[in-house]
Formats: sequence, structure tokens, C-alpha cells
Amino acid sequence: MFNMLIMGPPGAGKGTQAQAIAKRLGLEHLASGDVVRAEVKANTPSGQKAREFMDSGKLVPDDLVTSMVGSHIKSACESGNGVVLDGYPRTVAQARSLTDLLDREELRMHAVVNLKVPSEELLDRLVNRLTCPQCNWVYHRRNNPPKSEGVCDNDGAALASRPDDNETVIRERLRVYHEQTEPVLAYYRERGVLQEFDGSGTIDEVFECVVRYLESLKGA
Ligand code: AP5
Ligand code: MG
Repeated sequence: MFNMLIMGPPGAGKGTQAQAIAKRLGLEHLASGDVVRAEVKANTPSGQKAREFMDSGKLVPDDLVTSMVGSHIKSACESGNGVVLDGYPRTVAQARSLTDLLDREELRMHAVVNLKVPSEELLDRLVNRLTCPQCNWVYHRRNNPPKSEGVCDNDGAALASRPDDNETVIRERLRVYHEQTEPVLAYYRERGVLQEFDGSGTIDEVFECVVRYLESLKGA
């Protein structure tokens, strides 16, 4: 069992790296953004409440997001080899809730990986991102294009831009990240599990560094 978090600002490559790490290490990738987007798409009562926060680049309130994501985390941790959590926790209150949940299940977080990328690079990555609405796989128009233009390699679905990937909302997401999510790094630093990486290299370069670290931890 190996549970880890991947952290970093919007566009840092959390989803991109998490999907590759999950594949390599045989873990489940669980992205809170994907869980929230699925609830919004299905128009559930929770999704209806979350939509306005998501569309404006704000965080969904802690209680609401924890109620949506908590059961997924529990079942992902219980089944199989472990989980790569992406996008949760995003506030110190969420980090405490996660610690409580793991303690109750007698589980622990083995690693927290933080990807550091300059803000100007983040904006370019996000305005050029394409995602698969069916399997949530992430592409970039130049850096990581699909094999056939506009179509997901995995399932052939038409790729689209996320509604929150426009410049105004991206700037708000970055502001919210610095204000509310950066303090979570100190929470994990104090617990001795945080490892920071330069996320500004190519996708493969970042992956090799992160995976080397994770494999050394797993082997230890
Ligand atoms: P979420 O879906 O988590 O979005 P985010 O944190 O803003 O992060 P992104 O998914 O935009 O970026 P990423 O780091 O995954 O980058 P990616 O790999 O795609 O959350 C969205 C919203 O949901 C929030 O605003 C909030 O409203 C709500 N929400 C979710 N979780 C919540 C929570 N816990 N609490 C409260 N609210 C919550 O890469 C980006 C692009 O760059 C891609 O095109 C990719 O191909 C490219 N790329 C990646 N790596 C590289 C590289 N090394 N070089 C060049 N290009 C690269
Ligand atoms: Mg993502």
C-alpha cells in the first residue's frame, strides 16, 4: 500500500504526472476536480452548489468538497495498491480532514510531491490544454498533443477546453492557490513528508525525477 499526494498550482502538471505515476506504480489516480466536475455534469444537488465556485475559480467550500471526495478516497485507499491524490486537500482544514480519515482507516500518507512552476508558464499551459470529457486524460496543443487532432488517444472522444481555462478565471485560480492552498505545504513540511520538484522541465523530465524519488521511497 502506497498513498501519495501531488500538489502544485493550477497548470503545474498534477493531472499529467498523476496519470503517468498511477500507471507506472499501479496506483489509482483520484482527482478532486474530476469528482466535482462529474457531479456538476450530472447536475446532482452537490454539483449544483459547486458549479458557481468552480466556474469563477473559487474553491468549493470545505464541507461540500469533503463530502463529495471523502468516500472516493476511502474506497481508493482500500482497494488495490494505493492512491495518487490530485487536487485534494486544497486548504489546511481539508488536510486535517484527510489526516483524520486516514487515521480512522489506519492508513497513512507516504509522500507529498509539490511541483513548482513559474506563473507565466502556468498560463500558457492552461490556455492550451485540452481534456477528454470521457476519461479526463490531459493534453496540450503543442507540448503533449493527441495522436489524431482533437480526439482522445484512449477512447476517441472529442477533446475540449475546460470552462475554467480562460485567462480571467485562471488568474483567480492562481490567486486563490497562493492564498488558500500554499499554506497546506507547510502542514506537510512539518510532518516530514513533503518533497519539492522543479516542474518546469518537459513532461518526461519531471516524470523521471518524481518517479525516481517515489521508487526509492517504496523500495526503502
Ligand atoms: P482542478 O481540476 O484540481 O484544477 P487545478 O488545481 O486548477 O489544476 P489543473 O487541473 O488546472 O492543473 P494541473 O496541475 O492538473 O495541470 P495539468 O496536468 O492538467 O480544480 C478545478 C476546480 O475544482 C477548482 O478551481 C475548485 O473550484 C474545484 N476543486 C477541486 N478540488 C477542490 C478542493 N479540494 N477544494 C475545493 N475546491 C476544489 O497540465 C496543464 C497543461 O500543461 C496540460 O495541457 C498539460 O499537457 C501541460 N503540461 C503538463 N506538464 C507539462 C510540462 N512539464 N511541460 C509542458 N506542458 C505541461
Ligand atoms: Mg488537474
